[in-house]
Amino acid sequence: MRPFQLTRTLPEDATGAALRADVLHGLTRAPKSLPPKWFYDARGSELFEEITRLPDYYPTRAEREILADRAADIAAATGAHTLVELGSGSSEKTRLLLDALPTPLTYIPVDVSESALTGAADGLLADHPDLRVHALIADFTRVLELPEAPGPRLVAFLGGTIGNLLPAERAEFLTSVRKLMAPGDSLLIGTDLVKEESVLVRAYDDPTGVTAAFNKNVLDVIDRELDADFDPDDFDHVALWNREEEWIEMRLRARRDVVVKIPELDLVVPFAAGEELRTEISAKFREEGVRAELSAAGFVPGHWWTDAAGRFALSLATAG
Ligand code: AVJ
Repeated sequence: MRPFQLTRTLPEDATGAALRADVLHGLTRAPKSLPPKWFYDARGSELFEEITRLPDYYPTRAEREILADRAADIAAATGAHTLVELGSGSSEKTRLLLDALPTPLTYIPVDVSESALTGAADGLLADHPDLRVHALIADFTRVLELPEAPGPRLVAFLGGTIGNLLPAERAEFLTSVRKLMAPGDSLLIGTDLVKEESVLVRAYDDPTGVTAAFNKNVLDVIDRELDADFDPDDFDHVALWNREEEWIEMRLRARRDVVVKIPELDLVVPFAAGEELRTEISAKFREEGVRAELSAAGFVPGHWWTDAAGRFALSLATAG
């Protein structure tokens, strides 16, 4: 068996078709919005890695602290021989888990970014020559099948990425993940926690403008993939805390009246000066809420671990 296998779960053009559908849907309704998964082309994935190193972006460091403290507990509690990671990105924090889990071990990273998957696999295999890696290029919300791999399996969904889904989408997502799992399998999920507004907003609106560049990168993706003529300079980056919903919203606000042509969609999209396009929600959680969502999806919630400062949590649940 080759140590590294890369599988595209959808035909190459399915990504293009999904992008076209999302852009058409999101830019022809009021208020305008786009799903955050389109941030992550090669440039967007790099910009996100840069975000994780910003002093104000605490989630990555807080989650790494928990993983470093609890990796042995996670390994003992799950006994996993397969680690499935949804939205694996650079797999940087995953090393802490891989080092703690028993061998032989199969690692199944799932990500929409092919560049992130291949880059991560190269680095991991250098340090873990015995690791079997079967990477899936896929939208984690659409993964309905996993490659054959030894159990028990641990499905990890780190970084707080579950917060990018709306509550109804989260329920649907967790239920579909539960269906992938067998008795004895476990789910490890990272959630950013509700905290003071100024701390949250600074994490999504850094003074160096890296997050602004990340946000605007979605316009470059649409320009390149759909031959559109968005000028990122026509938009301002906006990050705000939605107190009722308890989520951060990122938006792009038109600095003037703007008309964007998207030839691939036969579409012309007008923006009035000041009009906003929502590009991401990043929900923040409380312990009771996470446990309730896990239970509602058919999981049995177990451990709840936070970093010392109480900013971020990891939850371990079983498939019952
Ligand atoms: C990768 C989805 C966890 O929501 O905090 C970082 C993405 N957006 N800065 C997050 C993000 C703006 C990030 N996740």
